[in-house]
Amino acid sequence: MAIRLGDTAPDFTAETTMGTLSLHEWLGDSWGILFSHPKDYTPVCTTELGTAARMKPEFDKRNVKIIGLSVDPLKDHEGWAKDIEETQGVALNFPLIADPESKVANMYDMIHPNADSTFTVRSVFLIGPDKKVKLTITYPAATGRNFDEILRVVDSLQLTAAHQVATPANWKSGQDVIIVPTVSDEEAKTKFPAGFKTIKPYLRVTPQPATTPVKA
Ligand code: BEZ
Repeated sequence: MAIRLGDTAPDFTAETTMGTLSLHEWLGDSWGILFSHPKDYTPVCTTELGTAARMKPEFDKRNVKIIGLSVDPLKDHEGWAKDIEETQGVALNFPLIADPESKVANMYDMIHPNADSTFTVRSVFLIGPDKKVKLTITYPAATGRNFDEILRVVDSLQLTAAHQVATPANWKSGQDVIIVPTVSDEEAKTKFPAGFKTIKPYLRVTPQPATTPVKA
């Protein structure tokens, strides 16, 4: 069964490169990103894990924990981790789940049999501190993910969770945001002291609110 936005992220206990953990307990009050890799010792996955490890400080700043998954055994992950450090210039600094029986992969519908019957696709699940799924993205095996885009969505989600705003197409942190239609003009005057511009009654823009609290 596919996991949809707003669903509670299924909990599980799994072996990882950083020991055995239970997802919900490990996440605690943090946001989380769970992302799957088709297979160990493959080129695109190697670059993705290096990129995610390099960007971990950016996720940390936003109170987001990241965790990868591959349906290969822990022994393979440990050997592959050495290659990742050697070729990407950065060591794995977050857990990589070993899921050789595809238990978590099946729970999260990460195996799409018409794409491949054994390996996972490149799934991304962004989970809020309330353990609800806030974003799902699916990439094919041959296309490495854009982790800048994932970070951009984190920024949007954390902003829209804290303020009555939405973010427009291609928005990046620091740019103007949209006031949601449920906020009246009268309310907007007090909620958005920097002012707002009405392009259409349903399309009002305001400078990005100054603070970005990280709780859901
Ligand atoms: C890769 O990570 O390079 C890869 C994995 C599975 C299929 C195609 C590419």
